[in-house]
Amino acid sequence: MVDIILKREISGRILDLGGGGEGVIGRIYGRAVTAIDIRQEELDEAPGNFERLCMDARRLDFPDTSFDAVTAFYFLMYLAPEDRPAVFAEAARVLRPGGRLHVWDAGYGSASPGPHLVELEIDAAGEPISTTYGVLGGGMELSSGELLRCAENAGLSPVSKARHGEHFYLIWEKT
Ligand SMILES: C[S@@+](CC[C@H](N)C(=O)[O-])C[C@H]1O[C@@H](n2cnc3c(N)ncnc32)[C@H](O)[C@@H]1O
Repeated sequence: MVDIILKREISGRILDLGGGGEGVIGRIYGRAVTAIDIRQEELDEAPGNFERLCMDARRLDFPDTSFDAVTAFYFLMYLAPEDRPAVFAEAARVLRPGGRLHVWDAGYGSASPGPHLVELEIDAAGEPISTTYGVLGGGMELSSGELLRCAENAGLSPVSKARHGEHFYLIWEKT
């Protein structure tokens, strides 16, 4: 059963945060995407034809207002909760006015002592991708409510929320 259906519906220049691994957003949007990831090997192993830069999402090396859209596909689940406010602030800074932040992720309450695993069947604009994302560590947790607070503190305005079980897709706009 497909858990997530992604259509090619974001336009302009896209910054994909934590965009290594499966490189889902880069596979869909190709050269429109600049993917950043803190681990070069995650960028190297991602299939697809998109720009890849090794960079920390907490400190983006881009000028203000340089992207039409910012995406985070099952990236925030990997970040410690205390690092998420900086990522939202940076996403808001590099978005142009009217640009949107798109977040796909899944809530969880703990990733210790065992890992929290998310198994996904994705329809990536027609390409099937089957993968498992896992996170391990004390103090790790994620909820959509926490992300809504981070976005509000970063000055982003909510546009839409969709939920499917523990999975969610949230969109905000920079006004
Ligand atoms: C589950 S993977 C993301 C999945 C990816 N979006 C995809 O399409 O498969 C999470 C990624 O976030 C990266 N990451 C973790 N902390 C980061 C940070 N502070 N800045 C940038 N990337 C980071 C990890 O190296 C990892 O490749």
